[in-house]
Amino acid sequence: MISLPMLQLALDYVSLPTALAMAIKVAPEVDVIEVGTPLCKAVGLEAIRAVREVCPDKIILADLKTPDVGGLEAAMAFDAGADMMSVIGGATLATVAEALQVARKRGKEIVIELTGVRDILRYAVEWRQIGVDRIVYHREWDAQAAGRQWNEDDKVIIRRLIDMGYKVTITGGLAPKLLPFFADLAVSIVICGRGIREQPDPRAAAREMREMIARLWGGTGAARQVSDTPLIQPALADKAAKSIRFGVSDMGLLLTVDGRNCPGCDTTARLCRDTATSIQCPPGVRADDVLNGIYRSFGRSEAAGRVADNQFYLDPARLNSLSRSRVMDLITATGQALQHLGYQADLAAGLQAANQAWGN
Ligand code: 5RP
Repeated sequence: MISLPMLQLALDYVSLPTALAMAIKVAPEVDVIEVGTPLCKAVGLEAIRAVREVCPDKIILADLKTPDVGGLEAAMAFDAGADMMSVIGGATLATVAEALQVARKRGKEIVIELTGVRDILRYAVEWRQIGVDRIVYHREWDAQAAGRQWNEDDKVIIRRLIDMGYKVTITGGLAPKLLPFFADLAVSIVICGRGIREQPDPRAAAREMREMIARLWGGTGAARQVSDTPLIQPALADKAAKSIRFGVSDMGLLLTVDGRNCPGCDTTARLCRDTATSIQCPPGVRADDVLNGIYRSFGRSEAAGRVADNQFYLDPARLNSLSRSRVMDLITATGQALQHLGYQADLAAGLQAANQAWGN
């Protein structure tokens, strides 16, 4: 699937109020919020809980860099509201396996943090064998301060990791001007901490990062190779599915709910993320034309696709980065595409209904 790398804001603070203020300010521009290692150490699990509270719609990563007792630390992070947690690459395979098992049981994810790992590819084989598929390739702060630059050797390893099936996160003093160096790699997540937090306008800095990612990875090339399993919070996914159904319906379109993957979910009375919404095209309108219109404004995405000549689906579960604004953009793109094709879609009513589905 075509997918842009996600942008992750790292909250490497020791003060929770400062971290929360930054999270609130920058969240609209990023996909993932990282509760940074210093924050986890200074504040503890309360930091994860608090970030979850102020960013209910975001993917949250607890950067615990767990060295041992992987199962317990993973459970603690997930119980506190994290969607992902990190295990340090120097941990034993048993620790990684414990954390992974807990994550799988709860539909969450772990990432291996490569900080300090010297023989990356050797261990990467072992992690893959037990099922790890996310990894963070890091230029460490101290190494950076000691003069380490990103170089072609890093890219050789990152490429190998991607070829092995890893979804690779890159991090370490990243800023917009450094991103073109990585643009030929199908990275999954780009982390930025100081490059956003320490700018005079952090939100604008995050937006600049996001726009740079879209420019560099958008549409073709490396981005095509990213095979991201969408990271989705169930509550958020449910709201997204509901929002699409309400929105589409109030726009005046006929929809059918496919509940095959979700027993008990095959009526419009029950709405959840495992049911895709199939939409009947108005008379004389072809699904391919609607989809072309959607892709033109929304970008090509598997979240919208063809069911039949006169039927298409919208499936928020297939968005690479699920957020309220992306879902609303998808609904808007659908309404506009239909209007462009001559159908009087009531976009205002659709958006109002879609917004109501999110609550607050
Ligand atoms: C340090 C970290 C940081 O979160 C990561 O390096 C991102 O921060 P920055 O963009 O400021 O380098 O994990 O170990």
